[in-house]
Amino acid sequence: MRSWPSPPEYGHWKREDHWKQDVIIMAPALLFLLGATAILQAHLLPDKKSVLLLPPVNFSLTVTDLAQVLLRWEPNPDQEQRGVNLGYHVRIHTPQEEDYDTMNTASKRVAILHEGFSASVQTVPWDSHSLRPSCWVSAELKAPPGSPGTSVVNLTCTTNTMVNSHQHSRPYQVSLHCAWLVGKDAPEDTQYFLYYRYGSWTEECQEYSKDTLKRNVACWFPRTFISSKGRDTLAVHVNGSSKHAAIKPHDRLLALHAIDRVNPPMNVTAETEGTSLSIQWGKPVSAFPTHCFDYEVKIYNIRKGYFQTEKMMTNTFTVVTDDISKYSIQVRATVSSVCRAVGLWSEWSQPIYVGNDEQKPSTEWFLIVFMATICFTLLMFSLICRKCHLWTKLFPPVPTPKSNIKDFFVNINYEKSGSNETETEVISYMEEPGLEILEDSVF
Ligand SMILES: *[C@@H]1O[C@H](CO)[C@@H](O)[C@H](O)[C@H]1NC(C)=O
Ligand SMILES: *[C@@H]1O[C@H](CO)[C@@H](O)[C@H](O)[C@H]1NC(C)=O
Ligand SMILES: *[C@@H]1O[C@H](CO)[C@@H](O)[C@H](O)[C@H]1NC(C)=O
Repeated sequence: MRSWPSPPEYGHWKREDHWKQDVIIMAPALLFLLGATAILQAHLLPDKKSVLLLPPVNFSLTVTDLAQVLLRWEPNPDQEQRGVNLGYHVRIHTPQEEDYDTMNTASKRVAILHEGFSASVQTVPWDSHSLRPSCWVSAELKAPPGSPGTSVVNLTCTTNTMVNSHQHSRPYQVSLHCAWLVGKDAPEDTQYFLYYRYGSWTEECQEYSKDTLKRNVACWFPRTFISSKGRDTLAVHVNGSSKHAAIKPHDRLLALHAIDRVNPPMNVTAETEGTSLSIQWGKPVSAFPTHCFDYEVKIYNIRKGYFQTEKMMTNTFTVVTDDISKYSIQVRATVSSVCRAVGLWSEWSQPIYVGNDEQKPSTEWFLIVFMATICFTLLMFSLICRKCHLWTKLFPPVPTPKSNIKDFFVNINYEKSGSNETETEVISYMEEPGLEILEDSVF
């Protein structure tokens, strides 16, 4: 057996295998050693791993205002700290999933509440991720009672800024208009009530519009506590009552930039000078300063029937017009993204008209009529001339009292000129003296 020649490859494999076997034997020992040092080190440092995080206690949800909930909890009294900073992780489930961390034991949320509200909270290590968070504690606000299909639908609101004539400390006031549709299963005697909250102000609507069944379907607040430049969310709540059913309330949260009806620009003026058309306007009635507006100018060429619209950030616009025409000009505005989130455009301003569209067609008309008259006259004239070429013969200045002496002179004169034509003319005139009477009766 010993003399059996082993192939070199085989021998090589054998050596490698020996080395591998050594590693396999040594690895657990090494791992054990490493593990032991880790444990030793852990024991030398403050014992964070052994801190067990306990969930907060007395977690409660309270409706503090219209579409506003206060979440409150207490740290678990049995929680040992051992130098670990603790915080809380809050998860809102209804109406909309939301996660956030806080070190406080209370937090206020703005939310739609007509579908109820539910949330959970757990204790978490604030600055290290080595500890396991606690288990969750949950709380829930039930959806307010009400029969399905009784709440309002398609609730929409708009705000508008006006000059405040009553109070000089607040130069602008914001009005609010909301409209909705009656729920399809709402009884006929249903009455709806609208409330809004902006910041800490809550107001009930005083001016309702009604449908044929005298149910409120729209509401108007001429003055509100809404700040035109504010960034708070506007909360709107519509509840109702009926003898036959519980009316389900309806909430909406609205961002001001999305519902604000910007006023159109003021004092739009335009003038043409040669082919240059310059347009000017003023900032809309708004609490926002001049630099906060974007504008759009619409120039309508009435004669050619086409629009040209231009976007700009300035209050003036000059355009070269290629021809003399009448133009209708309108301008609209929006609060630019420099000052607020992008929102709606205003209505177009009342159209103003420049240019003189009438003048050109009227001169054309005049020319046409003039030419036609001339043509007609010439035509008639030539017709008359042809029909009774005598007419022309009347033109030579012949005095009415026709004496033989005068005729004689004429005759002589014509004879003197030696023209054959005139001679014949004179002769023919002489032949028909009756025409003289005709001429007299005409003139
Ligand atoms: C939790 O609420 C109960 C009952 O309201 C109260 O007795 C207890 O002190 C509260 N616990 C904490 C930690 O505030
Ligand atoms: C109400 O809103 C729904 C969906 O938002 C829409 O389909 C419907 O046309 C709206 N009804 C009216 C009358 O505007
Ligand atoms: C409607 O909501 C307001 C504000 O939350 C409340 O004061 C009022 O009692 C409610 N009315 C009805 C009929 O539910």
